[in-house]
Amino acid sequence: MDALECIKTRRSIRRFKDRPVPFELIGNILDSARLAPSAGNIQEWNFILVTEYKIREKISMAACMQTWMNDAPIYIVVCSDPGKAERFYGEKGEKLYCLQNAAAAIENILLAAHAQGLGACWVGACEEDQLRSAIGAPDNIRILGVVPIGYPAEEPRVPDKYPLTDVVFIDKWGNRIKDIAAYMGYYGEHIKKAAEKGKEIFRKMASGEKKSPSRKS
Ligand SMILES: Cc1cc2nc3c(=O)[nH]c(=O)nc-3n(C[C@H](O)[C@H](O)[C@H](O)COP(=O)(O)O)c2cc1C
Repeated sequence: MDALECIKTRRSIRRFKDRPVPFELIGNILDSARLAPSAGNIQEWNFILVTEYKIREKISMAACMQTWMNDAPIYIVVCSDPGKAERFYGEKGEKLYCLQNAAAAIENILLAAHAQGLGACWVGACEEDQLRSAIGAPDNIRILGVVPIGYPAEEPRVPDKYPLTDVVFIDKWGNRIKDIAAYMGYYGEHIKKAAEKGKEIFRKMASGEKKSPSRKS
């Protein structure tokens, strides 16, 4: 699947098959996390790969008792060192870039999982102190997300997403245009399908499979 299809078809998965994930796939996911963009390329992150059930259980408890997580055979816990970000970029590094960098890595994890036929979910509702203790991380390390990963056992419908018209402004705040698709030269699926259908009719007419419509005088 190409990158756009991967982005468009990814869903948060919260039910998993009882099936182990080959290490090669996990390696690709971790590598994708490592390759995410980060402010000034500081990469102040660590990724904890958790497979042991007892630790995963503690983590799900720390994640507001989201017990559905336990069915996923692996978790990736995304940690960040805000002190390092601060040394490079001061308060902005500590308070902002540190979160943004981790978010970019988490999105890469979600997409790399989906691209390989796996399911994953970004879990952010966590008690950070409890999480630190579950994985033995020091107090200065922030834990910015947990991603349970496994083979999906559900195909959730696409949740409601705001249309482009609602979320895109042109040039200035609040400047909406109604037909954003036409403005951007982007044509939705229905228009693409109509064009394909038209091409097919012309192809059939050219090959003699179909008569051309008679002209009305
Ligand atoms: C910052 C953040 C925190 C989230 N935390 C949780 C969580 O704790 N538990 C959960 O089940 N889903 C969590 N999600 C997943 C969202 O619920 C999900 O992305 C959203 O419903 C849209 O669905 P989609 O991912 O299928 O597009 C989180 C997502 C983000 C970005």
